[in-house]
Amino acid sequence: MSHPRFQDDVIYQVYPRSYQDTDGDGIGDLKGIIKRLPYIEKLGATAIWISPCFRSPMEDMGYDISDYKSVDPIFGTDEDMDLLIEEAGKRGIRIILDMVLNHTSKEHPWFRSARSSLDSPYREFYIFRDKPNDIQATFGGSAWEWNEETKDYYFHLYAPGQPDLNWDSERMREALYDACNYWLDKGVYGFRLDVIENIGKDVDRHILQNGPHLHERLHELNHRTFGRKEESIAIGECWCADTESRMLYTNPEREELSMVFLFNDWGAFHDPKYGKWRCRPFDCRTYRDIIYERQETDPAKSWDTIFWNNHDLPRALNRYGDLRYRKECAKMMFASTLFLRGTPFIYQGDEIGMINGSFHSIEDYRDIEAINHYQILQDMGMSEREAMEALASTARDNARIPMRWNGRKGYGFTSGTPWIDGGKDDPEYNVAREEKDPSSILAFYREAIRVWKDPLYRELVRDGAFEPDYLEKGDWICYTRRIGERRLRVFANFSSRTCEKPDIPGTILLHNYEDISEEFRPYEIYVTTL
Ligand code: GLC
Repeated sequence: MSHPRFQDDVIYQVYPRSYQDTDGDGIGDLKGIIKRLPYIEKLGATAIWISPCFRSPMEDMGYDISDYKSVDPIFGTDEDMDLLIEEAGKRGIRIILDMVLNHTSKEHPWFRSARSSLDSPYREFYIFRDKPNDIQATFGGSAWEWNEETKDYYFHLYAPGQPDLNWDSERMREALYDACNYWLDKGVYGFRLDVIENIGKDVDRHILQNGPHLHERLHELNHRTFGRKEESIAIGECWCADTESRMLYTNPEREELSMVFLFNDWGAFHDPKYGKWRCRPFDCRTYRDIIYERQETDPAKSWDTIFWNNHDLPRALNRYGDLRYRKECAKMMFASTLFLRGTPFIYQGDEIGMINGSFHSIEDYRDIEAINHYQILQDMGMSEREAMEALASTARDNARIPMRWNGRKGYGFTSGTPWIDGGKDDPEYNVAREEKDPSSILAFYREAIRVWKDPLYRELVRDGAFEPDYLEKGDWICYTRRIGERRLRVFANFSSRTCEKPDIPGTILLHNYEDISEEFRPYEIYVTTL
């Protein structure tokens, strides 16, 4: 059966600000990613998704682009990007850029012109109205900002510095396609498309996601950009999509996106009042029901993404796991979902069991969303202490602390002062230590990816039927992937309880304890084949 290449990819996400600094300014850069290519290759990744590194005032850490066609000087030069694409390519690693097509920065020349005069040719690129409605911005406050020069309001779904683009304008769409093609022509593999479900919005009718023209726009974007190139990909970030709508986005016949990120597993634990800022405790059965449902869809019509972490989520190890069993838990979580059908994504630091930062005061935070919500949560009824606690466990900065390359000052990340700290008390888990320990989380990740890619099991993991096992055991993630009599089986205990061990037949491919026991120990996992 022929299949697209991305179904065999292992994608590693780099948050460039926090990965590797090479010039001592405390901010990671593209040269740093180049320096770490051997590490990424050894992990087994076949592509790197880099969070935005384009020119930006950094109000939302690069998700506010002021020039789509150039690298921001804090990350390096355009030549560094060319070199990164080339050097990664030599190692069989392709580069995926993070394209923010829903909005620009307010410093983008298009917006500067649009807001300066009613006669600007760029007026139609944005959404201006004489009167605001009551739509609220994701980062707090009204989604409408007064523009003194033209005496009207512009729309921003995120920060006021991130005006939304008007996808009804054909000229605007052409300008974005031009930017995408610029990078495709330079040899990038494709794009991660930021909040792409918002581009079909109809603000007058209060429709933000899944707007009337969404799929039509995606189809056009596909045709005009990545769809023109054989093997190019696009991964959509879709917070509101579910298994059913994923079929619309990713059915190859519809020619829209290659894959989308679903967050319904994460959203299942949100508090009715405070949403993501105060989560209900993790419950494996609820989680499992959601991720298993995604497996039921016809693989020829829809493809899933598999991930625990990214730069917008607190670390899953804190959220779902148990730090008393940090090592076992990190390994179990990775392997328990790795063998589901879909393309796996690893967020930097997952592979060494990184956990949330520890931020002691609001001044330690850097993310506009956290800083704004410190006040918003108090306005909603939390005390100051509760608001700080909420941020400590849910803020995005938790996942944005510097990569731990070693246990020394600056973490091997920088010789200067890191742009964000928040994690001084976690000296144990870093790449240097993990490299020396054959039973480390890092070693397990490398081995698990080796198994995942092994030609012996590749077809089984990619195409095999999915059969859930032991559904009556709420804390277990057990399933079989099968083609005829060939099977790959996963048995995971997603709890800190020791249980009676299930029957585990076959040859063990992966296991996260030093020895074999008669019991099923906390967070123990076996991956077997037969
Ligand atoms: C996406 C990004 C997030 C950003 C937002 C607005 O959700 O992942 O980091 O703040 O879009 O661009």
